[in-house]
Amino acid sequence: MDKFIINGGKRLKGEVNISGAKNATLPIMTATLLAKGNSILHNVPRLIDIKMMSHLLRVLGARVDFHGDVLEIDTTYVNYYEAPYELVSKMRASIYVMGPLLARFGQARVSFPGGCAIGTRPVDLHLKAMEALGAKINIEHGYIKPACKELIGNEINFDKVSVGATANALMTAVLAKGETNIHNAALEPEIGSLIDFLNKMGAQIEGKDTTHLKITGVSKLEPAEMEMIPDRIETGTFLIAGAITKSEITVSNCIPKHIQVLIDRMEDAGYLFEIIGDSIKIYPPQIIKPVDIVTQPYPNFPTDLQAQFLALMTLADGQCTVEDTIFPDRFMHVGELNRLDANILMDKNMAIINGVKSLSGAEIMATDLRASATLVLAGLAARGQTTISRIYHIDRGYERIEEKLQKLGANIKRVRG
Ligand code: UD1
Repeated sequence: MDKFIINGGKRLKGEVNISGAKNATLPIMTATLLAKGNSILHNVPRLIDIKMMSHLLRVLGARVDFHGDVLEIDTTYVNYYEAPYELVSKMRASIYVMGPLLARFGQARVSFPGGCAIGTRPVDLHLKAMEALGAKINIEHGYIKPACKELIGNEINFDKVSVGATANALMTAVLAKGETNIHNAALEPEIGSLIDFLNKMGAQIEGKDTTHLKITGVSKLEPAEMEMIPDRIETGTFLIAGAITKSEITVSNCIPKHIQVLIDRMEDAGYLFEIIGDSIKIYPPQIIKPVDIVTQPYPNFPTDLQAQFLALMTLADGQCTVEDTIFPDRFMHVGELNRLDANILMDKNMAIINGVKSLSGAEIMATDLRASATLVLAGLAARGQTTISRIYHIDRGYERIEEKLQKLGANIKRVRG
């Protein structure tokens, strides 16, 4: 297994370009299943999760080709409706094939996703949406098997905001007969981007960027072509890389308003920002002020940046707290950060961080995607050498992270295991 070796404590400088968003690309890849023919996606990041989703689409009968950052998906010969355990257990987002398969073929068979390192993650809301549209759901031998003769538009009321369930509900409702209204829909930019793609395919969805989505079903969709939005979590991770190493760096090719809440909280901590078009320059303060955060659905603080922000706060001048209301158990990184001499205590599901003057290098282990990025950030700030093992998690969601950091002047290398 590969490792990262980081010699930390160095300032970074220069500019980094943000790649296309993984979490926008994954549902759009499955949305291509709704039509017959060749869809083309631009600005697609080269990531393990994208490769796994390509593999799943091929298993279903699609042809998937990557040229540079362009992904072509031909769904003409899709003739198989199962997402097998081997794939779903490795990548939860495989559940996104369920809605499109049900809508186009009237059936699907998707392995039940289990828990993962960030806690239990149910799929009841996905199933509730499909049932509301007329599907019968059977669950047997660890597989979810929705089926229907016809999908009929309906009211879908989510009692909790879910990105995945909103995406699956949209991808099912676009081909249902009549009108569907989704209430309490997720507002995340990745949902907006999926709506844009579905509407390009010929769907009729109104209410983008609001919590009420109105879908008027159509009988057929066509393949489409679209550019993927920049990854807001990668944007935030690199801003924190600048922040934690007290460096002035520029993060380019991003959409600043997608991470406004992070910018606001970092301003509270004393950082200054210069935003010009699609680039953000960060200016560090002498002293980092402690700032409490609570993660909540967009536009509030994202759970996918919780760990990275927590790492930054380990160097704050005082005490603060971090709470995750989306995934309350998502604190595997705390023990590893404490190995780097951070001072973090857990009180039930709240992290209490007592800022320290500096972190010091150690051997640590990555546990999940965002926690891995966090350990890299902490390693960049820590004095001396940090070795991070099990970094395969990071390749699921960050495109060439060590190359991008090297370009900013970081001393980081990958040791192939
Ligand atoms: C997506 C993102 C993930 C991000 C998360 C929250 C992708 C591929 N993944 O995950 O990176 O951390 O949004 O922003 O885009 N829930 C239920 N029942 C359900 C579904 C969800 O109770 O049927 C709960 C979850 O346990 C969680 C909350 O709803 O507490 C939000 O989860 P959700 O938005 O669905 O996350 P994902 O779509 O899985």
